Amino acid sequence: MRKLILLLPLLLFVHCRKAPIIPTGLVTDKAMVVSAREEASKIGVEILQQGGNAFDAMVATELALAVAFPFAGNLGGGGFMVYRKNNGEVGGIDYREKAPLSAHKDMYLDSLGNVIPNMSTVGATAVGVPGTVAGVFEVHDKFGSLPMETILAPIIALAERGAVVTEKQAKRLERYREQFIEVNGDSSKFAQHFQVGDTIKYPALAQTLTAIKEKGRDGFYKGEVAQKLATFIQENGGFITEEDLAKYEAKWRQPVIFTYKDLKIISMSPPSSGGVTMNQMFKMMEPYNIGKYGHNSTESIQLFTEAARRAYADRNYFLGDPDFVDIPLDVLLSQSYLKERFANFSFERATPSDSVSHGKVEIVESMETTHYSIVDDQGNAISATTTLNGAYGSKLYHSELGFFFNNEMDDFSSKPGVPNMFGLIGAEANSIAPEKRMLSSMTPTIVEKDGTLFMVVGTPGGSTIINFVAQTILNVYEFDLSMQEAVNAPRFHHQWMPDIIMFETEGFSEELKSALKEKGYNIFEGPSRIGGKVDAIRVLPDGKLEGGADKRGDDKAVGF
Ligand code: GLY
Repeated sequence: MRKLILLLPLLLFVHCRKAPIIPTGLVTDKAMVVSAREEASKIGVEILQQGGNAFDAMVATELALAVAFPFAGNLGGGGFMVYRKNNGEVGGIDYREKAPLSAHKDMYLDSLGNVIPNMSTVGATAVGVPGTVAGVFEVHDKFGSLPMETILAPIIALAERGAVVTEKQAKRLERYREQFIEVNGDSSKFAQHFQVGDTIKYPALAQTLTAIKEKGRDGFYKGEVAQKLATFIQENGGFITEEDLAKYEAKWRQPVIFTYKDLKIISMSPPSSGGVTMNQMFKMMEPYNIGKYGHNSTESIQLFTEAARRAYADRNYFLGDPDFVDIPLDVLLSQSYLKERFANFSFERATPSDSVSHGKVEIVESMETTHYSIVDDQGNAISATTTLNGAYGSKLYHSELGFFFNNEMDDFSSKPGVPNMFGLIGAEANSIAPEKRMLSSMTPTIVEKDGTLFMVVGTPGGSTIINFVAQTILNVYEFDLSMQEAVNAPRFHHQWMPDIIMFETEGFSEELKSALKEKGYNIFEGPSRIGGKVDAIRVLPDGKLEGGADKRGDDKAVGF
């Protein structure tokens, strides 16, 4: 016993010393791409091996996902990208869809002022002007090093050769088959049953990509493709015209940059809400030693939930397209405002959401998007999230052009106070106007530690995205998980309204949930809709890279 007492200080010292985090994901020496499909990660890496930089690999990975992952990868959607060059320069690009010129505030309301079911979610009426092709050309024009033809060659080859259907993909295609038939008829490409191991070829998409290869961005936004696209949307009752397409521009945006302890976090600015909301959350949590509470412990879940509750309430009220609305960022991100906002937080009792702000909402639906992370052998980093909004977007598929169209118009508030398909209640700031961009939750993020690159991270998941990116950063930085463990770790979600915590099915004990209920938290009891597929890269202390490819999907880290 005496010996044990004498040894105690030593044991405590050993316990408190931070051991290096042992990587459990793929480790490579120099470069890596992590994305939702192996085919896309491989093409991104192939471009890097041909001497391309991270920006070339971004173009390649983005467009390869449009072939191999039509669930969310796209030509008919849009996204956001944040970059950090090896000299520390950072920036972001917004290639988000926008509302057509003919759009107006009440376009999804009937004569009584009620939201018309499905009009902003299914079919041609739901489609915003796509931004992806403009985005990749803008990135390539500014930072690319390889010719566009070189980058597009393996993608066109993939579309011609086809991609093999995985088990998860087969299930998804089957799940949405009836909707594909409803929207596109029973003779369309996705009306058929696909089995695991089938190869789906995309000759029409290969042709569209060839037009883009030959004519640049005008191969999509002008000429034959644009004319076919606009005619098809209008014939199906939608609003996009050739003028809408010709006028589309991707926009460079200054990212949101903030510190959390000794991290510098660089994330997407409006019209994505990701960076602002995460900035608020981290600053509310910063005064607490969350690492000490334990990973997914009652206290750490309380702290995170209360920060998320307050930040999401602000998100829904204040945020929108900064080219159309004045967002009081200087106030929302100020230390004094956030301190006051968090002043009534207590570990004793949950703060009810209706005392944080007002509003009612019914249900949350988890939706899909896709994220990829890239680090090249020069140390340039790319974090990009791209989407059709819902799974296969509006389900509208153009058989001659070979791709699905987004249903991004649903990310606007069709009617302030009425929830969209993520259960998010929007306000005037996110109301519809011609050429306005709809508010997003996409949160492509890059993290620096001690002035050097530390992590590249992002995920799909609709309104859950912001929380899952924040949880992944905390998992590594505060809870000492490896990159792969951080990605695999069970996740939870709270978005102010509805006032419930949703937990992933596995990984949260009944005792934990009971302890939270006793403190006044509402726990969602139905089947879990928590998903997200985080794809991330961590720079290890020796400069090597560890990938975190989400086990929940077919995601894959590839590198050299
Ligand atoms: N469509 C999902 C998002 O932009 O957040």
